[in-house]
This record gives sequence, structure tokens and C-alpha cells, in this order.
Amino acid sequence: MPSNYIDFYNDYYARILQSKAHAIFCEKVYGRNLCQEGMLTELQLDKLIETLKESRGKNILELGCGNGMLAEYISDMTGSNVLGIDFSGEAIRQAKERTSGKRDKVRFSHCGIDDIDSARDRFDVVVAVDVLYDHFVEDISSVFRKIQAVINPGGGILVFQSFIAESDGVENLPAEKTYIGKALSASGFEFSVTDLTEDDITHWKLKIETAREMEALFEKEGNSDLCLFQISKAEKLLSYSEAGRGVRYFYKTGLRKE
Ligand SMILES: C[S@@+](CC[C@H](N)C(=O)[O-])C[C@H]1O[C@@H](n2cnc3c(N)ncnc32)[C@H](O)[C@@H]1O
Repeated sequence: MPSNYIDFYNDYYARILQSKAHAIFCEKVYGRNLCQEGMLTELQLDKLIETLKESRGKNILELGCGNGMLAEYISDMTGSNVLGIDFSGEAIRQAKERTSGKRDKVRFSHCGIDDIDSARDRFDVVVAVDVLYDHFVEDISSVFRKIQAVINPGGGILVFQSFIAESDGVENLPAEKTYIGKALSASGFEFSVTDLTEDDITHWKLKIETAREMEALFEKEGNSDLCLFQISKAEKLLSYSEAGRGVRYFYKTGLRKE
């Protein structure tokens, strides 16, 4: 397990819990504060909820759930039972504490993605938002094989993820050629894809604009570095996307409808 990322996220979630500026930033950028750390815009969140409402399954596993605000929102909006897992102990501590009154619907486990096959539960849908990156997970194909072992027949996987092409041109990164597309195919999953690249570009621009507007508020809290982190990350990724090297996809594998 990459312990540097675990330390990073333990510290990150502890800090943003205390940051009013971060909550306002999320509301402005994502339409609501779910303590987002990925790129799931309001439009994409609506697509996710719509897809989950249409599907038959009511037991959901969310990988890399952070402090669990998305898992809680999914459960509230769809009536599903959600288990969120994350390797950040601090994020899971916050998630459990905040949702202690909803234990029958939302649960959390401090667990690495590589260990999901040790779960006793079975799921109808596995959701992964900005977590199946190759710097977080060593062997993506093995993750999909492990997911196969924990999903019920007719269940499915929903993955939101951005990619950067090694060389110029988006045509180099069609959805089936990314490491997620290849790993899904290698594990025998058929999938459909929604291209979210344009929405991603809008997201980076809004993030940069909002963080710049909010610099003073972050500074007042002593959190200037959190604001600068958002700006530098968004500027870098926007430059890739504008150069045609960045793409974002929503992968869906065979979900049975109601
Ligand atoms: C980029 S953040 C995305 C968080 C959230 N899904 C969102 O979209 O806001 C990645 C999250 O995945 C968790 N994570 C990364 N690698 C993981 C792994 N191998 N096992 C479990 N959790 C992991 C991190 O702690 C962090 O909460």
C-alpha cells in the first residue's frame, strides 16, 4: 500500500474538516459540498444518481469514499445501502462519526482497494470516483477480478476517471484504450462509455477562477497552501485537456434495470 498517499490523505481530510473556506469552495465548484477531492461535477453527480436510481441493485460499494459524504448522499437520494471503503483512517473516522445515526443504511470500512475480496458482503453496484488511478492502485486488472468476486449476478461497475495521453492527441486515448478500458475488457466486462471531457475542461476553469476569488478566505484560516494546491493542480490538468491530451470518461458495465 502506498503509505505516502495514506499520510497525505489523513492530513488532508483532517485539515479540510476544519476549513470553512474548503466547504464554500466545494459548494461553488461542485454545486454542493460533499467534501469532493475528485472531478465529479454537478452534471456527473446527477448522471451517477440517475444511473443508480434506474438500476435494480440496492447494495452499493463505493471505493475510495474519502470522508463518505458522497456515499451518504447516494444512500439519501436512492434509498440504497452503501458501504464506503478508504485507506485513510482519518477519512473513515469522520465518515463513521458523522453517519452514526444512519448505520442501517450507510457503513464504512478502513480498507485498501486491494483487500475488497475479503468482504463478506455482496454488492449490486461498485462505484469508483477518481480513485482507480495507477498511482493509487498497483494492479488495476486484479482490482476488477476482485470486484467480480464481490458483485451479485447482473450487478455492475460505475467508474468516473480522467486520463492524460502519453503523446499528443485525444485520438490516442479512446475509452477502450485507457488502462481502465483495457483492464475491464481483460476481466471480461463489457462496458458503455460517456465522454465527459468537455465538462472536465469547464470544471478546471471554474476551479481556478473560484480558488483565485477565494484566496483571501483560505489565507485568513491559515490554509493558503490548500488554495494554491487547487490552483496548481487545476492549471496543470487544464493545460493537458486544452492541448487535447486529457480525457474524462464514465464507464458503466452491465447493470440490470429495475
Ligand atoms: C482523488 S481522492 C477522490 C475521493 C472521492 N472519491 C471524490 O471523488 O471526492 C482519492 C480517494 O481514494 C482514497 N484511496 C486512494 N487509493 C486508495 C486505495 N488503494 N485503497 C483505498 N482508498 C484509496 C484516498 O484516500 C482518497 O480518499
